[in-house]
Amino acid sequence: MKILVIGGGGREHTLVWKIAQSSLVEKIFCCPGNAGISELAECIAVPAGGFQELKDFCLQKTVDLTIVGPEQPLVDGIVDQFTAAGLKIFGSNKAASILEGSKIFAKQFLARHNIPTASFRSFSSAASAAEYVKSTAGPWVVKADGLAAGKGVVICQEQSLALDTITSMMEQEQFGLAGKSIVIEECLQGEEGSFIVLTDGETIMPLASSQDHKPVFDGDQGPNTGGMGAYSPAPVLEGPMSQKIMTKIIQPTISGLAAEGIKFKGVLYAGLMIVDNEPFVLEFNVRFGDPETQPILTRLKSDLVPLLLASVEGNLADFSPEWRPESSILVVLAAGGYPGKYEKGKVISGLETLATEKDIIVFQAGTKISDGATVTSGGRVLGITALAETLPLAREKVYQAVEKVHFDQVHYRTDIGMKALKYLE
Ligand code: AMP
Ligand code: GLY
Repeated sequence: MKILVIGGGGREHTLVWKIAQSSLVEKIFCCPGNAGISELAECIAVPAGGFQELKDFCLQKTVDLTIVGPEQPLVDGIVDQFTAAGLKIFGSNKAASILEGSKIFAKQFLARHNIPTASFRSFSSAASAAEYVKSTAGPWVVKADGLAAGKGVVICQEQSLALDTITSMMEQEQFGLAGKSIVIEECLQGEEGSFIVLTDGETIMPLASSQDHKPVFDGDQGPNTGGMGAYSPAPVLEGPMSQKIMTKIIQPTISGLAAEGIKFKGVLYAGLMIVDNEPFVLEFNVRFGDPETQPILTRLKSDLVPLLLASVEGNLADFSPEWRPESSILVVLAAGGYPGKYEKGKVISGLETLATEKDIIVFQAGTKISDGATVTSGGRVLGITALAETLPLAREKVYQAVEKVHFDQVHYRTDIGMKALKYLE
């Protein structure tokens, strides 16, 4: 088979790494890819002609399956366009992707179907949003309705921050049109987890559980990022909790969408808060998580390609994935200043020392080749993944590996996976 992967981050490097191990696959293209991906796939530039040109590329190269990494192309309807051209593509169609594309839709959908989530109000006028904040007690969670590259959520302990956030999202258009409407939610206290499933619209196949670390600094301090590290399995979602999440959240979501005329195919990712042993939906994504995909797919023993194909073709019920029992953990190495302003073009050293180590895998994100060297070209530069028998051993192993890679002003969290340790005692 020939496969095209769309995207160029750590998640896509992981997808390409896993797909490259499939005996079904003879050639991988990636658009746009990155330095790490270029070792496994032929990277192609993002075409100026958009989906139309990408479609022509797939027809011309006889690509058998396209796999979409990020949310934007899904929300923009790439799946509908490829499908109409007779091309196989893995992911959710435009109608289903609204679950991630609009927080207001997602919250109203959850409410319509009695699926547990934080209580909320939605606003399309800054004045009414401000009035609401002034008349209620905080903390408030203010969310831009549309896509904001993971930065559209602000947790506001102080009324002044809530009011400023409303102004910058709705009036100053910090996120463009994505923030013209907002949701203000109750702030939930608990432990987060990522519950990610594959579905063909009928069968639901849960993937291994995982937990992300969004704030930039240790102890969940500082602003949110795209994710600074993750591990799998995540004990907070294991055991009876996993069944509870399926029954109370995932199944009603897929069947609720079906009742509204939307057949959901692809990845459904529920970002959850576990409060007093009950799961609540914080957000839905319609794609693999980044960085959760790194620990999840490094634990997947089965070939990924037949599973993705089965989601497209509607025979997921014929498969059951096998998982490695080990713990997998990923630590992100970020550029100095990220998630704020950061510099690019720093030379990365030490990667070759990890290349031969067993169960240590480097997934690159913001990297490119310049004058023969791998240099930084993004905020989340790369992630180092380690697998070991237990999470504490995997933590030890990953941080030893992290020490061996360097670039100017590198920073990373030192507490990835710590929240799980209390369950393991
Ligand atoms: P989201 O993009 O909706 O997942 O939000 C980003 C992050 O904000 C989440 O991972 C949580 O850490 C936090 N968050 C979102 N909604 C809430 C909420 N209602 N209560 C507490 N924290 C939240
Ligand atoms: N890890 C967060 C996300 O993929 O949205």
